[in-house]
Amino acid sequence: MRTALFPEGFVWGVSTSAFQIEGATDRDGRGPSIWDAFAGGEYGDPACDHYARHPEDVRLMQDLGIAAYRFSVSWPRVLPEGHGRVNGPGLDFYDRLVDELLEAGIAPYATLYHWDLPQALQDGGGWTSRDTARHFADYARVVYDRVGDRVDTWFTFNEPWVAAFLGHGSGVHAPGLRSAADAFVSAHHMLLAHGLGLEALRAQGAAKAGVVLNLSPVLTPAQLGDMSAGIPDEDAAAVARIDALHNRQFLEPLLRGRYPAELLPLIERTAGLGHIRDGDLDAIGRPVDLLGVNYYTPIAVQAQPSAPADPAFPGSEGVLFCSVPTAVTAMGWPIMPSGLSLLLRRLSEEYPETELMITENGADFEDVVTGDGIHDVDRISFVEEHLRALRTSIDEGARVRGYLLWSLLDCVEWADGYRRKFGIVHVDFTTQRRLLKDSALWYRDVVKRNGLGAERPKRPTLETVAARARVSRATVSRVVNGEARVSPDVRATVLRAVQELGYVPNAAARSLVTRRTDSVALVLSVPRHGGEALTSAVVQYVTSVLEGAGKQITLMLADTPESHRRIIRHVEARQVDGVVLVPPDGPDTLTERLARTGVPVVLLGKPAIASLVPHVDVDNAGGAREAALHLLDRGRRRIGVICGPLDLVAVQDRLAGHLATLHENGLRPVIAPAGLDGESGAAAARELLSGGQDLDALFATSDELAIGAMRAAREEGLRVPEDLAVVGFGDIHAASCTTPALTTVRVPVADQALALARLLLSRLDGRHTSSVVLPTRLVVRATT
Ligand code: FCB
Repeated sequence: MRTALFPEGFVWGVSTSAFQIEGATDRDGRGPSIWDAFAGGEYGDPACDHYARHPEDVRLMQDLGIAAYRFSVSWPRVLPEGHGRVNGPGLDFYDRLVDELLEAGIAPYATLYHWDLPQALQDGGGWTSRDTARHFADYARVVYDRVGDRVDTWFTFNEPWVAAFLGHGSGVHAPGLRSAADAFVSAHHMLLAHGLGLEALRAQGAAKAGVVLNLSPVLTPAQLGDMSAGIPDEDAAAVARIDALHNRQFLEPLLRGRYPAELLPLIERTAGLGHIRDGDLDAIGRPVDLLGVNYYTPIAVQAQPSAPADPAFPGSEGVLFCSVPTAVTAMGWPIMPSGLSLLLRRLSEEYPETELMITENGADFEDVVTGDGIHDVDRISFVEEHLRALRTSIDEGARVRGYLLWSLLDCVEWADGYRRKFGIVHVDFTTQRRLLKDSALWYRDVVKRNGLGAERPKRPTLETVAARARVSRATVSRVVNGEARVSPDVRATVLRAVQELGYVPNAAARSLVTRRTDSVALVLSVPRHGGEALTSAVVQYVTSVLEGAGKQITLMLADTPESHRRIIRHVEARQVDGVVLVPPDGPDTLTERLARTGVPVVLLGKPAIASLVPHVDVDNAGGAREAALHLLDRGRRRIGVICGPLDLVAVQDRLAGHLATLHENGLRPVIAPAGLDGESGAAAARELLSGGQDLDALFATSDELAIGAMRAAREEGLRVPEDLAVVGFGDIHAASCTTPALTTVRVPVADQALALARLLLSRLDGRHTSSVVLPTRLVVRATT
């Protein structure tokens, strides 16, 4: 590992927010907030009891060498009714906090709105009411009056997207409303409140003020695997729409004083434009000194015509939010440090004048509290990898002034309550005891060094435990696997060592006892009819996902009876933990023979004979049905079908789906069987076109056949699509290069390979698994 030091003066800090840590929700005159109501008393108080324990928390930060502390001010603590009467004791609290921070040498960074709107304002319409923006500016003034002389940096809002769209669109956050119109209106009023608040702060002399956004690069699943991959044409609109809703809806008004042009029609359709008044965007677009960036994870989407809108993204009909098989945090958020670099590159290119600060980044992982601490290596790696990405971005010229880790303390994670652990300091919520996790100690070193050292954090291993307990590795393994063959004394000694070292047993410990080999066979039947792209994707993705999960891959070719026997022997001898099988075309005995070994097997494609072995397939029948409906929709009624080779299950399914749809619509198809290649497609087309049926469309069960058919049609003097529409199946590369470009049904090649790898991993974990059928998608091009 390289060292990675940061520029001189780089600010290292931590972030928290009022509702998540303060507790004391009814102490000293604080009014209720929308989050108190939403939580219904389940969380929020005592939280971390920071209201009483802030001196201890400030000392903790001081010990860690923290330079800046971003906290939020609770609006209802300062103005219990949201406006009007000021609550002196509430302000006193922040006054004390700021002084303590300064005494500890920590710069106070204050956020004015981190989602805890006074309930009284909600009762008057909350963010759907324009008055709330005005009240916010007054509130900003009141807080500045009291602590403005000592607060280093101001942030008006934290993540208005979340507050507007999760609070008013999907309703998973307070105030729990589900109205797309309210979400857009609220978002605008928050932006306006920011503008008016900023003006108020500046008028009173605030030197540094900005706003914090949650930003995520929006990518296709393929890009998540390979950032250099381009965005396919048919996904471009989906990516752009989600980017506009999530990122540009806020970036553009704040930094350019305008809404993204493509978003306005959607806002107008949903909420009208009456709430956006003359002059609003001037106020919103006043220059900020600093843009706070909260980055946790990217968003992955692709076009999927049938997908309904996600209520958090009004207008997202036809967009599929994809999950991706990368490592995730306990929140289920994919871990992608390169997403941060991507985001920072974009911000630096599009808004080069804006100074940036990472105002939140961190991870929820389950922690194990042991006798000698909390060894949260996963959290450390998460932060370390993001810091490396950040360092690279700074090298590339991104103007990032600091990094504030989320979070100092384990705290209330909004609707998830106490079960999320984002802190570098553990909090025991019954005793309120704070305990530094390894990540806190590690971060202290980062801060001291102004960057990363060359060493990776050390995870206690089986060997460490064995050495401490003075027993063999196998004995440790037996104990952690609960085997009976260990004396009670030895067991007690080993368990003590496990506890003391904070050892978390891993696959290595299990494999010593269960003799897991941690290798997996990838068996490829060759030759196969066509489908090279799929086979190569399987090799590429299955290998990378399984290797990522710590498995070794043994690639085995199944091409002769002798090779089949060798594979079976290998699996019977338990040389592998599992098998991914790309079965031969047509009749196959390998699948069942492998299944009988008892080793988990997963299969690519639906097998010819029904089998208990789970498989991954694509919806061939559904895709062919969509193709048929599309031709009907284009007014075609005399449809010829070219299909082959008929011994392939996928081809049978495509034919069945297509024919059923034609029958349902009272049409009688004309069918010509074909083989594999373009030549046989051309021959089948000639046969169909000379049959005197005056066909106006051809559907072929593969692109190769369709491309051959187009050639035959041209030779017959027919124009595509005027005289004859043509649809293929597969969306091979050549399909988009034909003239005219071929309409076809896309088979999700990479997804299939990824699903196959995932299916095997869950079988290896002993989880119940059933087969997976992935959707196909019609890609409409010029031939129809
Ligand atoms: C961000 C919030 C913060 C915390 C983290 C995990 O969206 O700003 O309060 O909940 O996520």
